[in-house]
Amino acid sequence: MQCNAPIGVLDSGVGGLSVLKCLHQLLPHENFIYVGDTARTPYGCRSEKEIRSFVGEIIDWLALQGVKQVVIACNTLTMLGVESLRGKHEFSVVGMSKGEQLLLQASTKKKIGVFATQFTISTDAHRKAILAADPTAEVFPVACPKFVPLIEGEEFTNPKLMAAVKEYAAPLQEVGVDALILSCTHYPFIREQIAQVMGSGVTIVDPAEATSRLAKEALAAENLLQHEGVGRVTVCCTADEARVRRLTARMLSVEECSFVTIDLLAGEKL
Ligand code: DGL
Repeated sequence: MQCNAPIGVLDSGVGGLSVLKCLHQLLPHENFIYVGDTARTPYGCRSEKEIRSFVGEIIDWLALQGVKQVVIACNTLTMLGVESLRGKHEFSVVGMSKGEQLLLQASTKKKIGVFATQFTISTDAHRKAILAADPTAEVFPVACPKFVPLIEGEEFTNPKLMAAVKEYAAPLQEVGVDALILSCTHYPFIREQIAQVMGSGVTIVDPAEATSRLAKEALAAENLLQHEGVGRVTVCCTADEARVRRLTARMLSVEECSFVTIDLLAGEKL
């Protein structure tokens, strides 16, 4: 494997762009190929069988592009177990951090909220990870199925968005959490709205930076870090390229990115 090979980053849709932003900042010399399966998003309310078959197609497509690593910029997919997603490929596969250490540092009351997709919440993985690190903590997971369609639909000023934020925040406000993790990579797109509703007494935690550090460490361990040059960012989607470009502009400088609509099953190299 070559140092100048690209890093693959994937998500069901545009959410993983919030992780790509951190990765690009931390690893400015690296080339990135991002895949958002915008034709089939959201994944979070689908069955495990269906999600596995979709992610398998994306990883095989990234392998065809010669990536040296794949970052699963999606909590829902991470819940499937990154080792099982690697399949027959040899590159490292890095999943989303559960952020338990960040949360425990951020919370003095040890009352912690988790916002995530239905699928992620159904695994109970975040609650277990936080309790494994501190059994005295209290964890309040909330599934937020209305968020992803509103974010993918660019409904940032739709009153339905604020109504959904208030609905999901209510049980956390009732119990008085002082830290809240955004365990779906789409949610940083509405971080401001969530922070506004939760109020200044609640620290919002985004695990994207911790995940990016894990990706860097994995590359360093394999001697695969690129140390010079300006990295290229290619944003690939399976539908709605114009929409993806507009949403990318919320996270990255679009002048630095190229955009491509891809067919995951066509077996083509970029
Ligand atoms: N962005 C994804 C996550 O981090 C999932 C969104 C979805 O497809 O439901 O969980």
